Order: sequence, then C-alpha cells, then structure tokens
Amino acid sequence: MENVPGSERDSFTSKFGIIAATAGSAIGLGNIWRFPYLVGENGGGAFLFLYLSFVLILGIPVMLSEIVIGRKTQRNPIGAFLKLAPGKPWFLIGIMGVAAAFMILAFYAAVAGWTMEYLYQSVVNGFQGKSPEQLGEMFTSFREGSWRPILWFLLFMVLTSLIVISGIKKGIEKYTKILMPLLLLILVVLSIRSLTLPGSAEGLRFLFKPDFSKITGDTILQALGQAFFSLSIGMGTLITYGSYIRRNDNLANTVLSVSMADTFIAVLAGIAIFPAVFAFGIDPAAEEGLVFIVLPSIFQQMIGGYFFSILFFILLAVAALTSTISMLEVVVAYFVEELKLTRKRATIISSLLISVLGLFAAGSWGWFDNLTLFGNNVFGLLNSSVNIMLPLGGFFIVVFIGWFMGKKAVEDELSNEGSLKARFTIVFKFLVKFIAPIAIAIVLLNQVGIIRL
Ligand code: TRP
Repeated sequence: MENVPGSERDSFTSKFGIIAATAGSAIGLGNIWRFPYLVGENGGGAFLFLYLSFVLILGIPVMLSEIVIGRKTQRNPIGAFLKLAPGKPWFLIGIMGVAAAFMILAFYAAVAGWTMEYLYQSVVNGFQGKSPEQLGEMFTSFREGSWRPILWFLLFMVLTSLIVISGIKKGIEKYTKILMPLLLLILVVLSIRSLTLPGSAEGLRFLFKPDFSKITGDTILQALGQAFFSLSIGMGTLITYGSYIRRNDNLANTVLSVSMADTFIAVLAGIAIFPAVFAFGIDPAAEEGLVFIVLPSIFQQMIGGYFFSILFFILLAVAALTSTISMLEVVVAYFVEELKLTRKRATIISSLLISVLGLFAAGSWGWFDNLTLFGNNVFGLLNSSVNIMLPLGGFFIVVFIGWFMGKKAVEDELSNEGSLKARFTIVFKFLVKFIAPIAIAIVLLNQVGIIRL
C-alpha cells in the first residue's frame, strides 16, 4: 500500500468508492459552516442565485477539467503539468495549488477544531438553557480563549495525518460511505424542526427570494470563491483524486453526482439554518459564528436534542475530516512523487509545516489577535484568500484544457477511449474554451479594480 514511486499506484476500488471519496472532499464545513454565513452576510437569495449559477456554468467544467488532467497523467498537480507540458510554465499552477492547500488547510482545520469543541459541549450539555445571545457569547469567548481553539486544531491535524498515512483505499473510502448519508439524514431532521418553528417563513423568503439590489462586486467574488471552495476545485485536489480513478470509470457521471450532492447539502443547510435564524431573532450576518449559534438553539427546541446535537457534531467533524484529508493528500502526493519521500515521512513533514501556519489561524482571536493586516486577522486573511486563489487556479486549468491540452487527449478521457458516447463533449468544450475563462477573468479583474461591474 505504500505509495512509493515505481510501485503500482493506489486506486479507488469501486465506483461508489470514488463518488464517496470525491463527495467526501466536497462536502464539509464549506457547505454547513461557510455557505450559510456567507448567505447571511450577503443578503440572502441573490447570493444563492449567483452561487448556483457559478456552480453550474463554471464549477462543473472546472471540476471535470481537473479530473481529466488527473486521470490522464496519474500524477499530483505539479507532476501532472510537468508531464503534459514539459519545459513550460504550466507546472506553476500546481505549485500554486500546493501553496493553496497549505493555506486552506491551516484555517479549515481551525474551524474543524471548533466543531470538536462543540461536540464536547454537546456531550457535557453545555448549551442547556442558553439563549441565542448567550450562545453567541459562548462562541466568542471560546474563540478568544488561549488554549482550547489551539488544542482542538492540533488534535484535528493529528487525526487528518493518521488517516492520510494509512493510504487511499483503507483510509478514505471506508469512512465516507456510511457517514455522509447519515449527515444528510440529520440535516433533513434539522430542517423539519427549523421549518416548524413559529416565524420561520421569513427565513425561507430571505434564502430563496433574491433581492438583486444587494449584489455588489464583492458579493459576486464571494459567491464565485464559495462555489469553487465547496466543490474542492481550483487547487488540484481533484487532479490528485482523479489520478486514483480507474480507466473504465465514467468521469462526467462522477462529476455530476458529486456536484449535485454537494449543492444539495449546502442548500439543505440553508433550509435548516435561516428559518431558525428568523424565528429566534438572530442576526443573519453573525459571520463565522452563525451555525454555532443557530444550531445549538435549534437542538434545544427538539425532542431528543441532546442526542441529535452529539450525533450532528460527530458527523460534521467527520465531514470536515474527509475534506481535510483531501487537502493534505495534495501536498503529500507532491512530496511523495516529486520529492521521493515515503508516504509517512511526507505526511508528517507537511502536517507539521501546516500546523505552524494553522496555529496563527486557530489563535486569531486569542494569542494572536493583534496580528492583523488591513484590519484582518490571520484567519480572515487565509479565509478570504480562497476567493482569489481558487478562481485563479480554475482559470488556468480551464484555459489549459480548452486551449493547450490536445483535443484528442481530452476526448479520450471523457469517452474512456471511445467506449462511452460522451455527447456533452461539445458543450464542455465551449464552456472551458470561452465561457469559463471569460467569466472568471471578469470577476477577478473587477475585484482588482481594472474593470467595474
Ligand atoms: N470542499 C470542502 C468543503 O466544502 C473543502 C475542501 C476540501 C476544499 N478540499 C478542498 C476547498 C480543496 C478547496 C480546495 O468543506
């Protein structure tokens, strides 16, 4: 099982295994923590509308492009571009991807640590009898604490590395298959409770009725960044996962199933959260704290709330774990294949390096609260860098597929060397050649102020 150079390459062993692992990467805190608070901050329905449009016309093409590159080359993101375009600067996309994996994992594992704290609080009944305001204070004071956010973060990094060391098949497939459907189920239960609270209709209106006057250039960028973040695209995660997919698996079907599941879970999280936000009179713009205030409030209004909140935070932590392993895997695959380290050594070294950066993220409201740049703490900087890094990576990936990777190579991957019909190929080509690069470029140029939307 050691993924050493020259030995037979690890691969997923079943069709459901691929979908489960790719969905495990996509579904995580992005859907349940980041998406709802961005919707809340950016005025509701209009943000949802932009987000869904970006998933459809930009996210899906980028996702398929990454998987095509991965399976074609059987390499990590840097090795993949070195193989496809030797002697050209395209490998820089891979370097950017590995750098992005570092930065994203650092703050993501910090939030994953928060879910562990909330699991602990569920077990000790720490939400009991607290009003939404008190839950808000509880969240703030936890985050400002000195040790707790850091220790939970480190624990999460250790868990992630242990799973990555154990390898692809054994490590990743096993956990995702059973636990993701369970997470879906509990979100349905939460949505039902939330929708039956008095005053919940306002929340549905907020979520689904777009008020386009709320859209600003910044909203557009945030929606684009979130679409990429949630699908795990723009930094080569899916190049790495694509490289573990077997030759006879259908790539387009995998991409469609995963993107649909991911989007469904995000919208469902919205349906669980916003009706309750309005029913309890919580501020929808409660930023990173939103779900940590709203969900415990709902659990308190539920029969079996104690049990459900434990189960929920276990599943959320696992969903986060299947995402963090996919990020760490990018860095590890690079260290193993290009720097020729053993899998174990690669994992330990990369986790240690990421943990150093992550300490600053996890301690952004505690130890390191005065470490700021333009009014953002380290966590804020890393979290918002996503909105630029991922679309930029996605831009180069679609340009590469659309304009530089041979036409035949792309068609062969989409059709499994002609054995599938792949009738959508023409639409895909049009999207990756024209629509996706132009649209991403417009949003990014708007952000740096070169053009004004
Ligand atoms: N998509 C995951 C989520 O929504 C996070 C994630 C995993 C990710 N791998 C990634 C984000 C790669 C960007 C790139 O929680």
